[in-house]
Amino acid sequence: MRVLVVGSGGREHALTSLIAASPLCLEVHAAPGNPGIALIATCHPVRADDVEGLVALAHDLNVDLVVIGPEVPLVLGLADELRSMGIATFGPSAAAARLEGSKAFAKEVLVAAGVDTAQSRVATDLAEARQAIADLGGRVVVKADGLAAGKGVLVCDDADGAEAAAADLLAGGLGEAGATLLIEERMEGPEVSVLALCDGEVAVPLPSARDYKRIGEGGTGPNTGGMGAVSPAPGVSDEAARRIVETVHVPVLRELRRRGIGFSGCLYAGLMLTPTGPRVLEFNVRFGDPETQAVLPRLAEDLLPWLLRCATGTLEAGALRVSAGAAVAVVLAARGYPGVPETGVPIHGLGEAARHRDTAVFHAGTAYTDGQIVTAGGRVLTVTARGSDGAAAGAAAYAAADLIAFDGLQRRADIGSDAQG
Ligand code: AMP
Ligand code: GLY
Repeated sequence: MRVLVVGSGGREHALTSLIAASPLCLEVHAAPGNPGIALIATCHPVRADDVEGLVALAHDLNVDLVVIGPEVPLVLGLADELRSMGIATFGPSAAAARLEGSKAFAKEVLVAAGVDTAQSRVATDLAEARQAIADLGGRVVVKADGLAAGKGVLVCDDADGAEAAAADLLAGGLGEAGATLLIEERMEGPEVSVLALCDGEVAVPLPSARDYKRIGEGGTGPNTGGMGAVSPAPGVSDEAARRIVETVHVPVLRELRRRGIGFSGCLYAGLMLTPTGPRVLEFNVRFGDPETQAVLPRLAEDLLPWLLRCATGTLEAGALRVSAGAAVAVVLAARGYPGVPETGVPIHGLGEAARHRDTAVFHAGTAYTDGQIVTAGGRVLTVTARGSDGAAAGAAAYAAADLIAFDGLQRRADIGSDAQG
């Protein structure tokens, strides 16, 4: 098979590694890819949000399958365009991608599907927002409805803070994304990400993961795109993940179908494990980053046939074979992240780290300039290792990560532990 992977992050590097290793794979292409992906695939300089350019590329390369990594092209309808040309595509339609593109739509679907989630109200002006905050008891979470690259969720301690957050978003703090707000009851508990491969009808669970979202140890400091992940999530067995898929993913797929919407791709549910049971926080319509870098290295069988079955609507209920133990993925970020990152800084020790046993180094914000790999984004690399449990995998991941150095490197020291995410 000839496969094209769309995207340029650590997630896409992990996906491309598995696809390239498949005996079914003849050629792997990536757009735009990154210097790590370029070692295993042919990279093409087409951006992940250039729908027209990607459709032309897939056509010219005559690929058998396109795997779409990031959310933006999905929301823009890349999967619809590719399918309309007869190209098998892993990734949902624009209509299904609204589960991630509009938090109000996701909530509507959750409620209609009878899935447990936080109480909420939609608000489009400050008076409605004030009323919603009061109705929900003041301790709320204020969310921009649209895509906001992780910046649209404000967890508030009291009504004053929530009103200020709502006022800022409604005034255009995040542009159009914040013109509609979803205001939610604030829940408490550890978080878990449960991803499932879907073909519209069937959902096959992947092992659970926890994402460590804050920049600082113990879950402190500003939110990021994710500073690391562990799979399985502490305390969430494969059996528990399977139950979550039965009670969350399957009813959501059914409700979408009732609306005439098929979901083909990876459906990612973010949940909070509350005292009354797991409750849904959010959906993503794609693999998580960095969860993917912890989950995929645990698979004990070829991923490519599963991706193809999702794309062609031929998935059968079942389970992927997963190796025992755990995997930990540690993100190495640049100075300045999650604000403006420092770029162009030379990175040392990549080869040494990659040679560690059971370890993989995935590129994200890197560039190849003047014969050197340098930093080119906020999250620069993810180092993943497997081990008999979270502690062993964490020790191995940090041992490999210790070999990588660049000026301004930031990383959390507690990825894989039971610490707050
Ligand atoms: P989201 O993008 O909706 O997942 O929100 C980002 C983060 O905000 C989540 O991972 C949680 O840590 C937090 N969060 C979102 N919704 C809630 C909620 N209803 N209660 C408590 N925390 C929340
Ligand atoms: N790790 C969270 C995400 O991919 O959105």
